[in-house]
Amino acid sequence: MSKNGLLILVTSVAALGGLLFGYDTGVINGSQFYFTKYFELDSVMQGWVVSSALIGCFFGALLAGPSTRIIGRKITLIISAVLFTISAWGSGLPEILPESIPLLVTFRILGGLGIGLASMAAPTYIAEIAPKDRRGILVTFYQLAIVTGFFVVFLATYFIGANFTPTENIEVGWRWMFWSELIPCSLFLILTFFIPQSPRWLVLAGREDDALKVLNKLHEPEAAQREITEIKQSLQKERSIEKKEVSIFQKSALAIIIIGSLLSLFQQLTGINAVLYYGSDIFEKALGFKQEDVLAQQILLAAVNFIFTFIAMFTVDKLGRKPLIIIGSFGMLLGFIMLGGSLYLNQVGLVSLIGVLMFIGSFAMSMGPVTWVLLSEMFPNKIRSIAMSIAVAVQWAGNYLVSQTFPIIANSEANIEGPWNKSLPYVIFSVCIILLILFTKKYIIETKGRSLEELEDIWAEKYGKIE
Ligand code: GLC
Repeated sequence: MSKNGLLILVTSVAALGGLLFGYDTGVINGSQFYFTKYFELDSVMQGWVVSSALIGCFFGALLAGPSTRIIGRKITLIISAVLFTISAWGSGLPEILPESIPLLVTFRILGGLGIGLASMAAPTYIAEIAPKDRRGILVTFYQLAIVTGFFVVFLATYFIGANFTPTENIEVGWRWMFWSELIPCSLFLILTFFIPQSPRWLVLAGREDDALKVLNKLHEPEAAQREITEIKQSLQKERSIEKKEVSIFQKSALAIIIIGSLLSLFQQLTGINAVLYYGSDIFEKALGFKQEDVLAQQILLAAVNFIFTFIAMFTVDKLGRKPLIIIGSFGMLLGFIMLGGSLYLNQVGLVSLIGVLMFIGSFAMSMGPVTWVLLSEMFPNKIRSIAMSIAVAVQWAGNYLVSQTFPIIANSEANIEGPWNKSLPYVIFSVCIILLILFTKKYIIETKGRSLEELEDIWAEKYGKIE
C-alpha cells in the first residue's frame, strides 16, 4: 500500500472514535421515546438519563490528559473502545442483568468516559501522525466521522423505530438501538490494535528509533527525517532547562490553554448541539411539523451537516483556519437571523427551515471541524496532552450547559411576554457568534502549513516561552 493510502487508513481508524462520539450522543435521541415509557420516568429522571453520558464525557476528557501522556495515544484509544463496547452492551440491559435506572445510568456514564477519552486522544493522534500540509484535512476526517455517526445512528434508530414502534414494542426497541452500536464499537476495538503509536509520543517516551520507523512508514523519507529532527529539537529545549514536567500555571502556558478552552467553549455556544439534540422540537414547535416525522427530519439535519463538512475538508489547508471560522460564523448568524426573525414575526415556514439548514451547513464548514483542527495543533508538545484535555473537557461542560438550558429557555414562553419569547435562544446564540468572530480575529493564530514545532515558536513570541 502507498504511504498516502496507509496514512489515510490509519487516520480513518483513529477517526472511528469520532464515529462513536456521534453515534453514542445521537442514540439517546431515538431510544428515549422508549425507555422513558418503559421505566415510567418523569422529566427530571429522563433529563438525568439523557445527560449522564455528557458527565462521563467531561471526566473522560480530563482523564485523557494523563492517560495519553503516560500510556500513550494508541492505548488510550483502545481503552475508550473497550468502554464503548461495554456501554453499548450494558445499556440495552441484557436479561442476565437486573433492570434498573442506576444500572442504565452507570453504563451510559461508562460510554461517556469512552467518548471523552477518544475526543481528546483521536484528534491529537491524527495531528501527530499528519504531515504539516495535510494536517487540516486529516483532522477534519475526525469531524466527518462524528457527523457520520449522527447520520448513521439517526438512520438506524429510524429503521429500528419503524419495526418496533414505541406503543407496541416498548420493551425491545430501545435495547436494539443501544446494541446496534456494538457493530461500530467492535470494528473500532479490533482495528485500533493495528495502528502505530504516535511518533511524537514515542519521542517523548525516549523511543526515537521507533518514532522514526513510524514516520518512515507514513511519510516520504526526507519529510520523516526533517520531522524527527524538529520533534527532538522541540523537546531538547525542555531538557536543556533540565525539567521533565512543565508547569501549566506559568503565564505563557496559561494564556494558550485559556485561548484554546475559550475556542472550544465558543464552538458549543454557537448552539449547534441545541439544534441537533432538540432539532425535532424546533421542527415541531417552530415549524409546525408533526411528531411522527421527527426522526426523518433529524436525518435531514445530519445529512446537511455531513455534506458541508466536505467544504471544510477541501479548503482548510488552502484557505486557512481563521478565514473558515469567520466566513462560517457569518453564515451561522444569517441562519439564526432567518430562524429567529421568522419566529419573532410569527411567520414560521420555509424561511425558518432554510435558516436552520443554513446554520447547520455554516457550522459544518467552519467551527465544527476547525475547532478540532486548531485544538489538536495549537498546543506545544510539552503541554499538549494536559492542555488539550482541559480544552476538550471545557467543551463538554459547554455542551452540557447548552443542552440543559436550551429547553428551559425555549420553553419560557409563559415567563416572557411578547414576540421575543420564541426567538430568545437564537438571540443569545447570535451574540455568542459575534463574540466568536471578534475573539478569532484577535487571539487565534493561523496554523495552516506550519509544523507543530514551528507553531511553538510563534506562540512563544506572542506570550513568552514555556519553561
Ligand atoms: C462538533 C462538536 C460536537 C457536535 C458536532 C456536530 O464535533 O464538537 O459537539 O455535536 O460538531 O456536528
